[in-house]
Amino acid sequence: MKVDLVIKNIKSLYTLKGPNRPRIKDEMKEVGLIENGIVAIKNDKIVYVGEGELPEDFETTKDTKVIDAKGKTVIPGLVDSHTHLVHGGSRENELSMKLKGAKYLEILEAGGGIHSTVKATRNASFSELYEQAKKSLNIMLSFGVTTVEAKSGYGLDDFDTEVKQMEVARKLNEDHPVDVVSTFMGAHAIPPEFKDKPRRFIDMIINEMIPEVASRGLAKFCDVFCEKGVFSIEESKEILEAGIKYGLLPKMHADEIEPIGGAELAAEIGCISADHLVAASDKGIEMMAEKGVIANLLPGTSFYLQSGKHARARQMIEKGVAVSLSTDYNPGSCPTENMQLVMSFASLIYKMTPEEVLTASTINGAASLKLEEEIGSIEKGKKADLVVLDSPNFEYIIYHFGINHTLYVVKNGKIAYQAFS
Ligand code: NIG
Ligand code: FE
Repeated sequence: MKVDLVIKNIKSLYTLKGPNRPRIKDEMKEVGLIENGIVAIKNDKIVYVGEGELPEDFETTKDTKVIDAKGKTVIPGLVDSHTHLVHGGSRENELSMKLKGAKYLEILEAGGGIHSTVKATRNASFSELYEQAKKSLNIMLSFGVTTVEAKSGYGLDDFDTEVKQMEVARKLNEDHPVDVVSTFMGAHAIPPEFKDKPRRFIDMIINEMIPEVASRGLAKFCDVFCEKGVFSIEESKEILEAGIKYGLLPKMHADEIEPIGGAELAAEIGCISADHLVAASDKGIEMMAEKGVIANLLPGTSFYLQSGKHARARQMIEKGVAVSLSTDYNPGSCPTENMQLVMSFASLIYKMTPEEVLTASTINGAASLKLEEEIGSIEKGKKADLVVLDSPNFEYIIYHFGINHTLYVVKNGKIAYQAFS
């Protein structure tokens, strides 16, 4: 077989070989390390993964590209499975309020926070949103991210803006090397006009927006900000069940700030993932383990919110909940695209081992997007999404935190990013 791309001389090749499902407990430590590894790619797929040289039945020609990893590290493309990629403006103006002690929900309640991004997103044209999100997507790619989830939720009752966000995500998915998976999150905040009649807004989401999003194929998932003062447990349940009825898979912003039973609801409904979970209860964690709901944890957000509270990742892993990790990139609670920093935070704050962090950012992230059959590990038949890192091993990435270690990103079998040497 003629091959198109070979990556050779890989000192530490982390394959994440294993079952195509979320990995739990000690499975999260099994990263399928091959020392002196080699990978061969044909078209957009991985055709060989092994040690040393390519076997004879794989042929290289003058057209075959060869990346000499020169004794460095290779991992699967990172999956950032929770972001608010497409939005207008920025919110650095909130920093001084935060430093004086203003809380996230207080800023939101006062009409700032999400509401100020709603204004900026409504006022931005399609091409302005596209250019802003593309810039972020380029940064994400440079950090080794090859698949990203993107939520709507900055149009709210202005459905045209919700649609505009999802159409930007769709266009970026077509134009940009990074794959963009879309989530409808109309239930991100109660618009000020509906403060006294939230039921009217919820009915709009259920009866008008969800059917339209589904019939136009604008999103794969439906998400809700289930939080004290935002959408209650009952309201979230109704919205997510309406989504399910129309084929939108459920996800939740659950127990991010107050423990209101979000994790329990995620288990009851069968959410693909419940995200944040900083305040999740013991019972909620146990129910999630039982129902196989993935805990999508966002340590950058709890760091930036400065509440001093963090998701109990160790307890979740011990109880058998599959953990994935994401940036939550958004202009309010986590303004960073840097997945490598998030991986360091997960280890240093949550006490996850480097192996657990790698699993959570690759195959478990893929499972959070229901893409575990196609991406998330370096195995024959999977999409050729890989990252060459300038380090002797993965542990080094966690340790040397805050910088970009990427040398090459291969996406769909093509070099999509290369660092200046
Ligand atoms: O995941 N919590 C709600 N949504 C986002 C923040 C969005 C924003 O502040 O603009 C989050 O933290
Ligand atoms: Fe979020």
